[in-house]
Order: sequence, then C-alpha cells, then structure tokens
Amino acid sequence: MANKLKYFVGNWKMFGNQDSISILYRINKFLVKKKYNRKNNKVIFCVPNTLIYNFSNKLKNRSISIGAQNCHQSKTFAAYTGSVNASMLKKSGANYIILGHSENRNQGESNKIIKEKIESALNQKLKIIFCIGESLSEKNKKKTFNVLRNQMRNSLSKNFDYKKIIIAYEPVWSIGTGKTPKLSDLKKTLKFIKLEFQKIFNKHVSLKILYGGSVNHNNAKLFSTINEIDGFLVGGASQSSKKFIDIINNYYKEH
Ligand code: PGA
Repeated sequence: MANKLKYFVGNWKMFGNQDSISILYRINKFLVKKKYNRKNNKVIFCVPNTLIYNFSNKLKNRSISIGAQNCHQSKTFAAYTGSVNASMLKKSGANYIILGHSENRNQGESNKIIKEKIESALNQKLKIIFCIGESLSEKNKKKTFNVLRNQMRNSLSKNFDYKKIIIAYEPVWSIGTGKTPKLSDLKKTLKFIKLEFQKIFNKHVSLKILYGGSVNHNNAKLFSTINEIDGFLVGGASQSSKKFIDIINNYYKEH
C-alpha cells in the first residue's frame, strides 16, 4: 500500500479568502515534516476561482497542487456573464479541475454538458476529477449501477486521454451528511466503476478512483482496507488543516 500513489484532494466549495492560504501552509509543513513525499502522495486543493492565481504562485515548488471546481464548456472567450473557461483557469495556475460534482448537477448540469467541459479541460491539459454518484432514491430503487453507467458513458468519450482522468465516486446521499456506504457495497461499486471505465476505453487501463462523501479522521482508516480506493475527495473536513492532516495521519496509522 505504501508505494501506491494516493490522492488526498480537498474540495473547498464556496469557502475561503486570500488569508485562507495559512490552512495550506500548515498542511504543507506537515507533509514536509512527515516526509509524505510527492512520489507516493498527491495533495491537491480545489479552491474558488478567486484564489487560484495567488495560491498557485505561493505554493510553487511545494507539496500541494491547486485545482478548480468547475468551468464553462466554451473553449473560447464568449458572452457568458459570470463564467470562466478551462483555458482561463489553466492560465491562472490550476492543474486539476473537479467536473460533474453533484452540487452542479443539481443546478441543471447535464451529462452532455459535463462531457463538453471534460473535453475543453483536457484540451487545456488540466487533469480531471470527474465526479459521479447516485442519489438516495436511486440507491433505494437499486439503480446505482445504472446511474453510474449512464453518467460515465454519457460524459466520457473513448477519444479522451484516459490517463488524465480520475474518477471520484461520491454517493450524493453521503455528501455532507455524515453517512458513508457499507464497505462491502463500496468495494463492489468501485469494482463496477473500474470495469465500466475499461469498457469505455476498450482496453485494460488502470483507473485512479477516489471516494468522496463525509470522509473524516474517524473513517479514513476504515477505507484504507479497500484496495480499490486510490484516495479521497474531501469537502467539509478540508477546510481545516487539523481535520485534513488527521485524515492523512489516520489513513496511514498502523493500528
Ligand atoms: P463532504 O463533501 O466531505 O463534506 O461530504 C464531499 C464533496 O462534496 O466533494
């Protein structure tokens, strides 16, 4: 396990101002001190657009990479008041981008639009953190696999550079609720996602897959028993350096 690359990704959502860089400095200090080196661990913070330029400059040559949380699908400048596209985010210093988050799907983002966003972000050499997940009613109706399959098939194209795509499985009912899936269910779902990904790209590709939804210092260790997990997408707990550091520490705790 120690040698497999693990991702710890923070999703700040609508949180933070310029002073919040102090949170990332504290996390960086911890990473350096603990020698959680960049070869085995990738720590990424997806911050609001207002912070990307400043944070990515200040964190250059440090252990934390900066990402964005969404973009407009237009590849060129255009008349979309309030929007930014992938090229603008890349030029501001983002290296990663979350796309397809359920909070944006809830506001009307379709699989088709997400596909266009993924395409435009890949064109800009951004690495994609593509979120998929079922709602509570879909889970109760036992539609989870169908929903995940549709989300993947309708937003991924076999022409995409699959090496630049990480999937974050985030059951919608788990986000911000303190509820997490049963480990046995989670294992099955992650296996399903990996298989489906291989079918789309028509080859035996190795997919990096994150789990997201109420990840905290208490459950991080539990998840470490699941081989299929390559890391975490952390919302609420990423807004505190202590909580985020505790997740990493507990994940690697021997017992
Ligand atoms: P949460 O959010 O960790 O607060 O549940 C996860 C996410 O929305 O990415």
